[in-house]
Amino acid sequence: MEDTIMSNQQSIGYPNETIKLLHERGSVRSYLDKPIEPEILDAVLKAGIHAPTGGNLQSYSIIKIENKETMGKLAKLCWQDFIGEAAVDLIFCIDHRRHKRLADIGVAPHTTYHSFRHFWVSFQDTIIAAQNICTAADALGLGSCYIGTILEHFEKIIEMCEIPEGVFPVVLLCLGYPKTKPKVTNKFGLEIMVHDETYADIPDENLFVAYTERENHRQLEFTDERLSRIRNVCTRAHGEAFAEHCVGTIKRNGYINPVQYRFGLHYEADEMAMGNTDFLSILEKMGFDWFKEWHPYEE
Ligand SMILES: Cc1cc2nc3c(=O)[nH]c(=O)nc-3n(C[C@H](O)[C@H](O)[C@H](O)COP(=O)(O)O)c2cc1C
Repeated sequence: MEDTIMSNQQSIGYPNETIKLLHERGSVRSYLDKPIEPEILDAVLKAGIHAPTGGNLQSYSIIKIENKETMGKLAKLCWQDFIGEAAVDLIFCIDHRRHKRLADIGVAPHTTYHSFRHFWVSFQDTIIAAQNICTAADALGLGSCYIGTILEHFEKIIEMCEIPEGVFPVVLLCLGYPKTKPKVTNKFGLEIMVHDETYADIPDENLFVAYTERENHRQLEFTDERLSRIRNVCTRAHGEAFAEHCVGTIKRNGYINPVQYRFGLHYEADEMAMGNTDFLSILEKMGFDWFKEWHPYEE
């Protein structure tokens, strides 16, 4: 499979090394006990901060954590041991504080804390910089893995990293030398992901088959415990009639299909939609209130 792109069962040559790198990337969750040389880490971080950014505002900050004790705490908090085994953990944060400080110093008006527009763009800035760092890391023989579960522990992370008002953590990225070359994970193909000119739904059957293929036709055995969990999630998300329908489908098929697994047992549909207002109140505590109407200053 070296030097080929596997796409729709067709194999074509890679046009260059960058494309090869991007096609063969994969998340790395197992790292050598080897530090990243400072000049290599600098090169990777500089590639990140050179990323495109809305209005060239660079509305983000990166908290670089190399202290093993702190990394161990993060690993424990997020229930993922490899966070503590990476060489470096990077926490990417939206940062409007820098602009506020600049505005204060430069005697300029400032409303970024209250602006959905600024928030939206800075979220994108943050992730684009993070992804440039992943690609730069891959190019230099390192590996990386995003950790999204920091969102379950925003307050603890804000406290641990002394994150001030106007700054908000988005995602953690583990970096280190990989123990082994990462495996390439199946993804939907262009026929699913790209719409020509206008958005168009593909037929249900094609969509379902594509997902099943992507998940290697995984059929999860159903146990009483799994059925009871799925029934509970379905009832809370859509009511008893739907729960009956879902469990009935599982029993008829004789297995839990990959979509039922993903939204019924992995990212449990009921739990995923809970706590929205709690997230907003943490944002508000950190100075962001763009989800409320803003009113011009009144004398
Ligand atoms: C926003 C985001 C959050 C993620 N959070 C986690 C995580 O908490 N733990 C983990 O092991 N992988 C995490 N990942 C990695 C994904 O599981 C991974 O990208 C996906 O399964 C596709 O595999 P690949 O990166 O090898 O192509 C995350 C990825 C992204 C983009």
